[in-house]
Amino acid sequence: MGAARPDGYHELVTVFQAVSIHDVVTATPADGVELVVSGGTDGVPTDGRNLACRAARLLARTAGVPAAVRLELDKRIPVAGGMAGGSADAAAALLACDRLWGTGLDRAALLELAAELGSDVPFALTGGTAVGTGRGERLTPVLAPGQWHWVFGIADGGLSTPQVYGELDRLRTAGGPGGEPTVTAGAEPAALLAALRGADPRQLAAALGNDLQPAALSLRPQLRQGLRAGAEAGALAGIVSGSGPTCAFLARDADHAVRLAATLSGAGQWRTVRVAHGPVPGARLLEG
Ligand code: C5P
Repeated sequence: MGAARPDGYHELVTVFQAVSIHDVVTATPADGVELVVSGGTDGVPTDGRNLACRAARLLARTAGVPAAVRLELDKRIPVAGGMAGGSADAAAALLACDRLWGTGLDRAALLELAAELGSDVPFALTGGTAVGTGRGERLTPVLAPGQWHWVFGIADGGLSTPQVYGELDRLRTAGGPGGEPTVTAGAEPAALLAALRGADPRQLAAALGNDLQPAALSLRPQLRQGLRAGAEAGALAGIVSGSGPTCAFLARDADHAVRLAATLSGAGQWRTVRVAHGPVPGARLLEG
């Protein structure tokens, strides 16, 4: 992670992997942009500020069509959890409205709109495993032939992404545990990419890291106990996911992930524990 740029964003090199936890976004005709949220609704903006509504309006403006859609979000991805759930909804809304309105934008045009909406939205469209550069919106696919098994510890309450980035800046200025920029812009996380190619979870475990972790831990010190519980339960590695507070634990295989999840559920550190695998595709159209 580099330092803050003049526009406030941080230049980064990150490896994204899409995992098998998803929201369902349903788009149907309406007079204006309407939004209904169900599932884990706590903290989800239910008005026009919701990223899915912004995606619909941006597409309508670009294509020169009326912004007329009812969007129903069935939330299963933790909200404000550092798992890019809002970005996933925005990517899905772009695809769904493109189909509903027959705007027929090509992939490149959709990716451009996605980048305008948020740094993680292009990846939410493409999915798989990819290196993100710039502010995370420039993507290069990564060869990751294996299937990876993860357990996610979902904490009570969310963390705000800008606040976590702000805390990283503060720690760096203070010379705290965030330290100096550890990744220069444009550098490749070589060990991580080699581990992904090799399909060996132990090698991947050794290469996992997250520069935002010290900032998330500083804002939410209880996460340390959660990470420790994961290590004690036998996770190969545990890291804060994105800007947190969700933590991702790497398992050896599918069976190990189920056992690890059961132990972590019993440990009492997490509101919910979920098993998932990756990589999976990004946003997809399901005709209904
Ligand atoms: O792009 P997105 O709207 O998702 O970013 C949310 C916030 O996260 C930004 O306003 C910024 O504070 C922070 N951010 C950043 N550097 C990035 C991505 C996000 O500082 N590369």
